[in-house]
Amino acid sequence: MKKVGIIGSGAVAKALAKGFVAIGYEVKMGTRDKNKLADIQNVIVGSIAEAADFADIIVLAVKGTVASEVLKQIHTENKIVIDTTNPIDDKPPINGVLQYFTDKNSSLGEILQKENPNTHIVKAFNSVGSAFMVNPDFEGIKPTMFICGNSEGAKAKVTEILTAFNWETEDVGKIESAGPIEALCQLWCLPGFLNNQWSQAFKFLKK
Ligand SMILES: NC(=O)c1ccc[n+]([C@@H]2O[C@H](COP(=O)([O-])OP(=O)(O)OC[C@H]3O[C@@H](n4cnc5c(N)ncnc54)[C@H](OP(=O)(O)O)[C@@H]3O)[C@@H](O)[C@H]2O)c1
Repeated sequence: MKKVGIIGSGAVAKALAKGFVAIGYEVKMGTRDKNKLADIQNVIVGSIAEAADFADIIVLAVKGTVASEVLKQIHTENKIVIDTTNPIDDKPPINGVLQYFTDKNSSLGEILQKENPNTHIVKAFNSVGSAFMVNPDFEGIKPTMFICGNSEGAKAKVTEILTAFNWETEDVGKIESAGPIEALCQLWCLPGFLNNQWSQAFKFLKK
């Protein structure tokens, strides 16, 4: 059976766990506090290290400010880490714009890749709300998930997962593209903070 380890107990971790179960994966979730996942079904719940050791595909779904620290605690060498995180600062948004702790020409994805050079980090799922991560329903229009990472094989695997979750995938290159993809989270949240509009996704039109 295909396996995935999901680090986190929040909305993203839960939505993706449900999605992976639905497409036939065995799922182990990792948290510091198993009580937070008491209501979750059809998944194994363990520690962060146990979830990471469980599979060759790991989903990182923790608060951005702790992402680096959490990755340092686990073994991810030669594994795929699907990085769903955004570098959201603890400071409040300014006129609806989420404040990031990264520089404008850097990104959390790049920081994580530099700190874990033998890990195949793929930025994905960070530019849409958790409610739309699996089987997004926009009246027949398939939205676009932007991904990036240094490993072509890892991106091919993540594209396969996104296709199973009914997404169109746009591979926008190596890990340096994480900055522009992380900025999409700020853009996605703006209608939310300004007009309480949270039901949207991006669609990339090409010809
Ligand atoms: N919510 C969304 O719709 C959405 C959409 C796209 C991307 N994202 C990004 O996805 C990530 C997860 O978002 P979320 O909303 O599901 O959850 P969140 O509230 O941002 O983060 C919750 C998770 O962070 C972990 N965490 C917090 N402090 C920690 C620490 N000191 N050490 C270890 N783990 C710690 C918690 O672990 P424990 O289980 O151990 O408490 C919990 O699993 C974030 O980076 C966010 O920016 C969120």
